[in-house]
Amino acid sequence: MATHKRSAADPISGSSIYAHIVGWGMAVPDRIMTNEEMSAIVETSDEWIQARTGIKERRIAGERDSTATLGLKAAQRALEVADILPTEVELVIVATSTSENIFPSTASLIQDWLGASNAGAFDMSAACSGFVYAVHMAAQSIRSGSIKTALVVASETMSRVMDWQDRGTCILFGDGAGAVVLQASDVEGGVLSTVLRSDGSGYDLLGIPSVGSLDTCAPIVNPNGHKMYKMHMNGGEVFKFASRVIGESITQALDNVGLRLDEVKLIVPHQANDRIIQSAARALKVEKEIFISNIERYGNTSAASIPIALCEAIEQGRVQPNDYIVFVGFGGGLTWASMVVKWGAPEAEERQAAVLGKQRRQASYTLARWRARLIRFQRRLSNAVTRIRPNEGRVHRLRHKIDQHDLR
Ligand SMILES: CC(C)(COP(=O)(O)OP(=O)(O)OC[C@H]1O[C@@H](n2cnc3c(N)ncnc32)[C@H](O)[C@@H]1OP(=O)(O)O)[C@@H](O)C(=O)NCCC(=O)NCCS
Repeated sequence: MATHKRSAADPISGSSIYAHIVGWGMAVPDRIMTNEEMSAIVETSDEWIQARTGIKERRIAGERDSTATLGLKAAQRALEVADILPTEVELVIVATSTSENIFPSTASLIQDWLGASNAGAFDMSAACSGFVYAVHMAAQSIRSGSIKTALVVASETMSRVMDWQDRGTCILFGDGAGAVVLQASDVEGGVLSTVLRSDGSGYDLLGIPSVGSLDTCAPIVNPNGHKMYKMHMNGGEVFKFASRVIGESITQALDNVGLRLDEVKLIVPHQANDRIIQSAARALKVEKEIFISNIERYGNTSAASIPIALCEAIEQGRVQPNDYIVFVGFGGGLTWASMVVKWGAPEAEERQAAVLGKQRRQASYTLARWRARLIRFQRRLSNAVTRIRPNEGRVHRLRHKIDQHDLR
């Protein structure tokens, strides 16, 4: 690890266990959709989109991409950087608004594909704030001492929930995934402070109606006229909300740990609109350059936008050991969240994944695939045998019952 001071206990949490980000990875689909292409679908233009949002292009999931496959790739890269085996992961959280299923969770799929056989897994629904919420949950599990290693994935296929007739939303979003590995350490740092907030009175400003809505059979949800499984948004209201909460929540998260804004090296905001970032910079009275922005290449990838921007910031050398960095997310709910992290990841040369570790991880992925296939095959076989020899099946079940209740 880089040079850090060790301390007995954090004055805020009282815990002497810290949760550090030790691995990171991202994955985006190959297909790029430019603003010009967008203008062939809805009445818009490259000039309008760039001027109002800063977006030039976004990635769109291909036939073989899904929320889980993109998330898996990002997770594998994060495990590579952390140089740990999937079996070391004890918790998998996937932040997403575009889960593969309502259940089972995308997290369970990724846990299985990785061979993370010692992990619990669940999805987190907090829209574009989801990554910060999920990292907070993972960090708290580590700091409480209940687990040592967690994997947080944020993955989205927003293109599949876009209303491609609504130029007010479809121009904004794109697909992609990011992931981080968090690990316990006695080195002071890692996730230091989090502010999580929600204001459900704004639930109708941004959302995707699903099966729990009023009328699940109708193609249109009344009385609002929102389409099932398609995003709807009041852009102007969301813009005002986002511009207000970014500054407020960053200030609160810094106050919690007695830090000043000028001690922060980098702010990694949710990438929703370049003008929102500019307005937050003005409110905080800081240069816009302290915020990392990559919205021009990916658009808004919802929960995935912060970890994708983080990966690119690390690649550009903008994050160094002992730097204070801030994540800030906001979105549907309405929800918003800020987090202060003292960067404590191992130095680049220490991070080189050992060849042995790499091979064992690959073996784990292959084994996981075969294990799942084998279990499914066994299940089918056992059902088939029961069908062919129903009496034997009945006798077997009866015997099992007798054994269980000790009725002999
Ligand atoms: C959606 C958003 C880009 C719209 O920008 P805006 O400057 O607020 O634009 P308005 O909605 O006021 O519309 C201005 C005009 O542009 C038009 N317009 C809207 N979308 C357009 C598009 N894609 N192309 C061309 N014109 C468009 C409107 O119809 C309106 O025309 P009118 O003046 O003739 O009525 C902006 O409100 C926004 O980014 N909001 C936040 C959204 C967000 O970040 N959501 C996710 C949060 S996680």
